Amino acid sequence: MKALVLAGGTGTRLRPFSYSMPKQLIPVANKPVLEHVLENIRDLGVTETGVIVGDTEPAIRAALGDGSRFGVRITYLRQDKPRGLAHCVLLARSFLGEDDFVMYLGDNMLPEGVTDIAAAFREHRPAAHVVVHKVPDPQAFGVAELAGDGTVLGLVEKPREPRSDLALIGVYFFTPAVHEAVAAIEPSARGELEITDAIQWLVTQGATVRAGEYSGYWKDTGRAEDVLDCNRRLLAALPPRIDGDVDTFSDIAPNVVVEAGARIVRSRVEGPAVIGAGTLVEDSHIGPDTSIGRDCLVRGTRLADSIVMDGATIEHVPGLRASLIGREAAVHPTGHGESRHRLVIGDHTRVEVAP
Ligand code: DAU
Repeated sequence: MKALVLAGGTGTRLRPFSYSMPKQLIPVANKPVLEHVLENIRDLGVTETGVIVGDTEPAIRAALGDGSRFGVRITYLRQDKPRGLAHCVLLARSFLGEDDFVMYLGDNMLPEGVTDIAAAFREHRPAAHVVVHKVPDPQAFGVAELAGDGTVLGLVEKPREPRSDLALIGVYFFTPAVHEAVAAIEPSARGELEITDAIQWLVTQGATVRAGEYSGYWKDTGRAEDVLDCNRRLLAALPPRIDGDVDTFSDIAPNVVVEAGARIVRSRVEGPAVIGAGTLVEDSHIGPDTSIGRDCLVRGTRLADSIVMDGATIEHVPGLRASLIGREAAVHPTGHGESRHRLVIGDHTRVEVAP
């Protein structure tokens, strides 16, 4: 079996981050979403992995390399623009050959993994085996209607009136039967070749399509709130370790990761939290639910429930929470006695200040 990871697209909902980095590289518990995806793929025993990339190809290549760090072998496949999930399968035709494959959306997090669903696919080899999850807002997703035995009766992309609450959640198993389906469908109303339509085409042709329900934690990391929620969830499961330096005046909770080369000086870190390599935390109170990336400086600050990306500086900010701070960003007070705010911020940035 091969894997096809989709990491093209534009990511408009994750602005302003998607201006400067692909949304699939946003760090969750200090690891890009795509790394979590590749680890799940490796856990299925799959090594040959095609990664669909768009304009952000250089950043994705720089982060993943040839894949050997994650135990997979990556072939990059360039898509000229986001033409739909089924277009990605068309594009990967020669890479996929006559192999079965798992298609994995590069912005979806399923930390509990899908090894049981992969085993069911390998045993029965239906034309397609989709992964579904109960959601409160099925209108926002592809939705499947199932028979009692898990056979898919029909699927609709973002239906106005959903026939079930089972969303397709970004992992699909296929035999080569899908290649005829992606070649047969027409673009949808949003102008994309929808994988949901291709799978529906298989159902209409009488092919067997099955669904496996994933009952673990799942997030499509499309919005800032989702990224923070996912971060909380993954931090809680991170095995603690202290590889950096902690001075005797600091207090570190037992469920904290301090990476090698990080320094904690006169500070308190409440877990779960991770402090990245090369970062200095001084006279601060960090956590819970906080990830600080590599080579950051956090001084005189109270910071909770947040993600701080590599190279950021935060100095003397007494109350910062539920925040996403981008790479190399700087947050610090204005001069003494000043009561005004001074902001140098980009398009679609969100700032909340105390009145
Ligand atoms: O998150 C689950 C949902 O993902 C499913 O319920 C839907 O049925 C499915 O169509 C998809 O919906 P989205 O509209 O959320 O997909 P999105 O445009 O966010 O793309 C998903 C991933 O695929 C993302 O990492 C970008 C990548 N992509 C997307 C398109 C359209 C590509 O690489 N190329 C593309 O042409």
